[in-house]
Amino acid sequence: MAQPLRLGIAGLGTVGTGVVKIVRKHAALLEARTGRRIAISAVSARDRAKDRGVNLNDYAWETDAVALARRDDVDVFVELIGGDEGPAKAAVEAALAAGKDVVTANKALLAMHGQALAETAEAAGRAIRFEAAVAGGIPVIKALTEGLAGNEITRVMGVMNGTCNYILTRMEKAGLTYEEAFAEADGLGYVEADPTLDVGGIDAGHKLALLSAIAFGTRPDFGGIELEGIERVAIEDIRAAADMGYRIKLLGVAQRTGRGLEQRMQPCLVPSKSPLGQLQGGTNMVVIEGDAVGQVVLRGPGAGEGPTASAVMGDVCDLARGFRLPVFGQPAATLDAAPRARSELPAPFYLRMGLLDKPGALAKVAAILGNAGVSIDRMRQYGHADTSAPVLIVTHRTARSAIDTALEAMSATDVVTEAPVALRIEHL
Ligand code: NAP
Ligand code: HSE
Repeated sequence: MAQPLRLGIAGLGTVGTGVVKIVRKHAALLEARTGRRIAISAVSARDRAKDRGVNLNDYAWETDAVALARRDDVDVFVELIGGDEGPAKAAVEAALAAGKDVVTANKALLAMHGQALAETAEAAGRAIRFEAAVAGGIPVIKALTEGLAGNEITRVMGVMNGTCNYILTRMEKAGLTYEEAFAEADGLGYVEADPTLDVGGIDAGHKLALLSAIAFGTRPDFGGIELEGIERVAIEDIRAAADMGYRIKLLGVAQRTGRGLEQRMQPCLVPSKSPLGQLQGGTNMVVIEGDAVGQVVLRGPGAGEGPTASAVMGDVCDLARGFRLPVFGQPAATLDAAPRARSELPAPFYLRMGLLDKPGALAKVAAILGNAGVSIDRMRQYGHADTSAPVLIVTHRTARSAIDTALEAMSATDVVTEAPVALRIEHL
């Protein structure tokens, strides 16, 4: 009879307690599926006295996650502490050095140190699995590394931060300002302890860096992402976008171009009726395009106890079955250090600005756009109560650099009363 697979779980917060619950509740089902009993040997968190709503009496307790990672009765170290430095990193390194496999939900750790950790793991013949790190309960890592392995991946896109999508959805549906929607999300416990991770696009950027590495065979490069959060999305933009048939989403896009790897995580307009436009609340969506398969759309819960623990357990089950792959789907030593490419692929842009309501103001703006080589597709001017008129422009496809040139020139005129906002439009 096969030996049980023994887990050491460090971190007993939302995800860690969820994993303990699944191991206890589905013991028979997990054994039937993997052919081995999945057992927990030891757990670790900071506060032993905290009631976590789950029975931990059967497991040894370690206050030090590194000591847990080194225990002889642990085969797989499950890291659910979080953070790209500190105890999570130290314990994962200790686990690999002690010859353990690692399962983690920690996108920050892998986005920042994934290359080095993958090289260490593969040199030691160990695995690092991280399904839960990207898009919560959606099995997107498995889809990319296994189901789509026969494709050259041409593009990966997605909405990968539920908190941002919740805030943007509430602004649109309830007419809340950004500040009001943020306060609501915070009150519901959706926002990370450091809110910048969510609203600054960093959390979603970490996830995109991991998907890019697998999709394009490149080293994870978080620093190469053009990153912009949702803090500057105004209710006026949400309303104007809706008026023109669009919704605003924090959208990640990664693709290889002739110049290198293009990665961006930015608020973008998407058609309201598109799958991404229809995405509500905290749900995530990842869109993968491959040369053989075409387009695959994966949608599901991007966070929370059950969905994230579900993804952790998928990885644990693979290890129990003896199924292992290189960390990023191909040996870490073969991952390409692709040059960083700024997104120059042309796209239509949405521009919103305040213009002095006097003869020639619009003509000046139109001339600036023309001089920058930007062609206007649609334009709207809204009613107003003072001397400044809100104006919206949708351009034809153009390079971001041309838009930047035009914005700079507009800001230097005496007719623009409110700094122009420019958002890319993605037709998916
Ligand atoms: P959490 O609720 O804040 O739990 C963190 C746990 O780590 C707590 O149990 C805490 O102990 C423990 N901890 C902190 N420092 C420690 C140390 N030095 N040694 C041992 N344990 C320590 O976090 P979470 O939401 O479960 O997230 C865990 C990981 O999953 C993070 O990497 C996160 O990014 C990722 N993730 C979370 C979600 C989600 O929906 N929550 C979704 C996807 C990925 P105490 O309880 O004693 O304070
Ligand atoms: N803060 C993240 C989100 C948690 O809102 O999607 C899941 O990674």
